[in-house]
Amino acid sequence: MFELNSRQPKLVLMVDDDPLQIEFGRTLAARAGYRFVGADCGRAGLRAAREARPDVILLDYVMPDLTGKQVFEEILRSPDPALRNTPVIMLTAQSANRDEQRRLLDAGLAAYLYKPFGYHELLNVIDNVLVLSRMRERNRILETQARQSFVATARMLVTLLFAKDPCTAEHSNMTADLAEAVALKSGLNEQDALLVKLGALLHDIGKIGVPENVLCKPGALTHEEMALMRLHVEYGDDALSGVPHMGEVREMVRYHHEWWDGGGYPFRLRGAEIPFGARLVSVVDAFDSMTSDRPYRQRLPRAEAHRRLRAGAGTQFDPDLVESLFDTLSTYEPRRERSIDLQFLEGLAVV
Ligand SMILES: [Fe+2]
Repeated sequence: MFELNSRQPKLVLMVDDDPLQIEFGRTLAARAGYRFVGADCGRAGLRAAREARPDVILLDYVMPDLTGKQVFEEILRSPDPALRNTPVIMLTAQSANRDEQRRLLDAGLAAYLYKPFGYHELLNVIDNVLVLSRMRERNRILETQARQSFVATARMLVTLLFAKDPCTAEHSNMTADLAEAVALKSGLNEQDALLVKLGALLHDIGKIGVPENVLCKPGALTHEEMALMRLHVEYGDDALSGVPHMGEVREMVRYHHEWWDGGGYPFRLRGAEIPFGARLVSVVDAFDSMTSDRPYRQRLPRAEAHRRLRAGAGTQFDPDLVESLFDTLSTYEPRRERSIDLQFLEGLAVV
């Protein structure tokens, strides 16, 4: 658990080989109501940082064993996230190398304080850095909560879809795996490919709103039933409209029945007007539908599915993505496990 409002006074660790500076720091901490630990060299400072768990670390730059920079770099490499996130203030001479100072600030150093400094200057820096550190900690907590709620929302949607229609569920599952592979083959990075995977998993989420007698009808749909079925795109789009961080996924849901030549629905977009993820889901969705059994028909032989995809390249499908799909299928090994695996959601850097 995070402790944002610990009532215990904050602990200041000062690492300096000058005993007068340590005494100065100790006096200041006592007056300001902080607890204080002093260390007279870099190694002792590192040990104290690991054992005493300070709230802020004051590091002298020039020390005989390890420099302040080396101690700071050790802190950054620490396996303990609490120590890595402890704010560090470097105590240094005015004449210090400015480029290096900037590099250390970029690496996460909280502040510099130039020697010689007085009581008020040191106290000001410590107070400011502690306030900043508390804000960062709050942000970290909020980010964690936002991630958790995103993953929970995605899980909830998938669970509902799977409960409503196991047939759609299995299709979405297979489509998701294959869509991720095609996305990687098309040059997307891992994160974008995972987003495509989530989009493919949820592309038919709006089918939750389609009556079951239409959704599971063991035969061709009438004109009216087809119109109802087509509404799944809008239902899905509406369902995701208020969910944070679902922008790209929502595009895949909204546009996955658009056609490359403008003959699709609901907006009759064409070509590159259709977002890439939606074009990709469209091709993979069609392939998986053709090669899976349906209540109203048996699966097509693979060669026939390939022939139909090739025939649809440039009319229904983005021709480049049809090629990417064929490339992918030439080496693709589908997962044997048919059950849904949502573990990949943890790897999505959405927040
Ligand atoms: Fe669909």
